[in-house]
Amino acid sequence: MSNPAVLRKCRWLAPMAVASALLTSSLIGEPAPTLEDSPIRLSSNENAFGYTPKAKAEMIKALDGGSYYNRNNVGELVELCAKKEGVPESYILTTAGSGPLLMMTALAYAEPGVNVVTTEMGYTQLIRKFEERGGDVKFAPLSEDMGYDFKALGDAIDENTKIVYICNPNNPTGVLADSVELKKFVMSVPQDILVFVDEAYLELTNSSFAMATCAPLTKLRKNMMVTRTFSKGYGLAGFRIGYGIANPEVLDTIKPFYMGAPSYISAIAACEALKDTEHLAANVQKYKDVRKHVTDAFDEMGIEYAQPDGAFVYFHSGIDQQLLRDTMSENGILISGSRVSGAPEAKYAEWARVSIGTEPQMDEFLSILGGLMAKK
Ligand SMILES: Cc1ncc(COP(=O)(O)O)c(C=O)c1O
Repeated sequence: MSNPAVLRKCRWLAPMAVASALLTSSLIGEPAPTLEDSPIRLSSNENAFGYTPKAKAEMIKALDGGSYYNRNNVGELVELCAKKEGVPESYILTTAGSGPLLMMTALAYAEPGVNVVTTEMGYTQLIRKFEERGGDVKFAPLSEDMGYDFKALGDAIDENTKIVYICNPNNPTGVLADSVELKKFVMSVPQDILVFVDEAYLELTNSSFAMATCAPLTKLRKNMMVTRTFSKGYGLAGFRIGYGIANPEVLDTIKPFYMGAPSYISAIAACEALKDTEHLAANVQKYKDVRKHVTDAFDEMGIEYAQPDGAFVYFHSGIDQQLLRDTMSENGILISGSRVSGAPEAKYAEWARVSIGTEPQMDEFLSILGGLMAKK
């Protein structure tokens, strides 16, 4: 009988030898359908495992209502979100993805002379908009393991700070904050500053979602916002739906920048996604399994990585990230570069981010990476 460990090791180093194995494994790991002729998309943290079929069935039933505005109704969704988060319905604002909440908040709070405090190497949608509107960004360094340094974050706050933005798990590093430390920090931030916790990937954590989420803190601290999206764990990125959880006074501050409700079709999909807890649990398990498959392979290949808790792995290949992306792209695989923010370019020049896809997709990626590593 063949030794599976040896087989696995050979796979990364002998790309051609795995073609037949890939063919077999693809039968048990079909990715969710995407646009025709699309390359393997491991660059935008999309969900390769697909959304609940119940959402598809309900959306199909509702398609005929598309010519009416009055079906643009998110009432049931707000009710379900409030129940899930344990907050009153007035604490929920639904939007077309969570991105609009990040940008609305920046637009509402930014002006020349004020700043947002965040970690280096974080998600940039809020901070870029904040800068565009004349505000400043103050970056705090990460801890040794690319996690959060709450002391450094606290030290960066000054009298002009309007927002502290934390992405948990962080993007692109994928690291999850220690939940006790994070909550202690959140509650220690001066009351006149908005603490914004972006939990786009939190469903996918190896830890307990219930322990890790900061949503309950919105009832204890007025100046607090938590955002969630249906784009990642729930696999509804293309339908554009997400929501914010905050005290109604905070929501009123950002509402002047609201550009319209999500479509009724995406609201229907999100309701079904919330109800189908089994589908979510199955998807989360797939993320955990494939994440481990990738980090085991990285361990075998001697590739360093940040501890991943989201929909991706941030890794140090020792190959220039642009060259790596280009080579992957030539081989039909899209990955993301180092996405440096608030750190010197050179520091992360040989780091890249790969989204979690199906196991066969990841095997194709690993096989090409293995070939490149062998040539180094
Ligand atoms: C950390 C984080 N927050 C928010 C978003 C916005 O996603 P969406 O607008 O699809 O909810 C993304 C998208 O990749 C993200 O990575």
